[in-house]
Amino acid sequence: MAKNLINVGLVGLGTVGSGVVKVFQTNLDRIEERVGGKIKIKRLVDKFEDRFKELNIENLKFSSDYNDILNDPEIDIVVELIGGIEPARTICLSAMKKGKHVVTANKAILARYWDEIMQTAQNSKVDIYLEASVGGGIPVIQGLHDGLASNNIQAIYGIVNGTTNYILTRMAEGKDFKESLKEAQKKGYAEADSSFDIDGIDSAHKLAILASIAFNTTVDLKDIYTEGIANITHHDFKYAKEEFGQVIKLLAIAKAENGKFEVRVHPTLIPSDHLLAAVDDVYNAIYVVGDIVGPVMFYGQGAGQMAAASAIVSDIVYIARNIYSGVAGKVPSVYYETKHLSAKNIVNIEDIKSRYYLRFTVLDQPGVFATISGILGKYNISIASVYQTERKSGNKVPVIMMTYETLEKDIRIALAEIDNLSITKEKTLLIRVEKGI
Ligand code: HSE
Repeated sequence: MAKNLINVGLVGLGTVGSGVVKVFQTNLDRIEERVGGKIKIKRLVDKFEDRFKELNIENLKFSSDYNDILNDPEIDIVVELIGGIEPARTICLSAMKKGKHVVTANKAILARYWDEIMQTAQNSKVDIYLEASVGGGIPVIQGLHDGLASNNIQAIYGIVNGTTNYILTRMAEGKDFKESLKEAQKKGYAEADSSFDIDGIDSAHKLAILASIAFNTTVDLKDIYTEGIANITHHDFKYAKEEFGQVIKLLAIAKAENGKFEVRVHPTLIPSDHLLAAVDDVYNAIYVVGDIVGPVMFYGQGAGQMAAASAIVSDIVYIARNIYSGVAGKVPSVYYETKHLSAKNIVNIEDIKSRYYLRFTVLDQPGVFATISGILGKYNISIASVYQTERKSGNKVPVIMMTYETLEKDIRIALAEIDNLSITKEKTLLIRVEKGI
């Protein structure tokens, strides 16, 4: 008998889950038109029944046990929106093994268990869609996977964490780090543990997903060099802009060249007239360079209830359309090969070359410049420009330098030596400068 209704089971009624319910309430006609048939959310699962009662909807089954969704033979699509590792991973894997298609926004399980999840989807012949795991409402996964399928992806530069981008935007306006973080938390952008945002871990999760899709492989999280934004001050924004015409962004970078791959997340200086420099507040953007198409930029809201809900419901629509057309699970929804980027294909961070913005905090006394530049020179590091203001109080001053292109290994040895000197009063800040972006 031909199918005449698709049933969705939704696990997790937090901010995003309740957004998904709202999208179904608001746009059901349009959704069914695009699906080409009837679709409804049949069951909702959450630990807290209050969340369900607040939604105030009829004809929907609520339960606090996700097995009620897994064991319901009428449920075609399971939407996992609880976040964290367990039981989210179990829910996704069990659903697929039971022949149910899955939509998930869970970047943590995707980044850590990419192999297991993709293999389970292929073995079980089901669809898995994950648009909301990166870039909130931005259709970047579909864009990379399908829209740019004809390309070798050469580079990805992503602003993929709304919280840190919000903080960096406020700091560029002169606010301090702590105050800006509090604002981002108040607006609901930050992860439950905001160190995931601040330390770049959330961005690394998202880069693992983007790079795995871009390079048809599995990029292991542990191979992604990750640095956060906590050591930057609002003064660095001023120096970067006024002295060098640059802005500071937390970038997730993936590059492929001659069989070698760079995958790294760190604060980065980019020219202030670059498109990515204009991406402010909670907005995300992913700038992709394909060998055929050239540069393409995906831009939109990277966090927040309705942005994520938009991507999730679109994923549900794709799967439902596939089910009605009889092709769900027949063509892998994510192209995936069981080959890993071996560690030898990944360029170690010490072997990259970059220009560096350096902020030394040193005693304001004769001979300090000479000492620092002597050590830099010893390691073949050439200084492109130097900037220092007069001290206002105390006896330490910031000295800002821009180097010419240098091997990271050399910079690290030189800074370790400089940071050990008695004239150095704080650990030197290093920010990589992205060339050719
Ligand atoms: N904490 C994340 C961010 C939420 O700020 O981007 C979206 O993944």
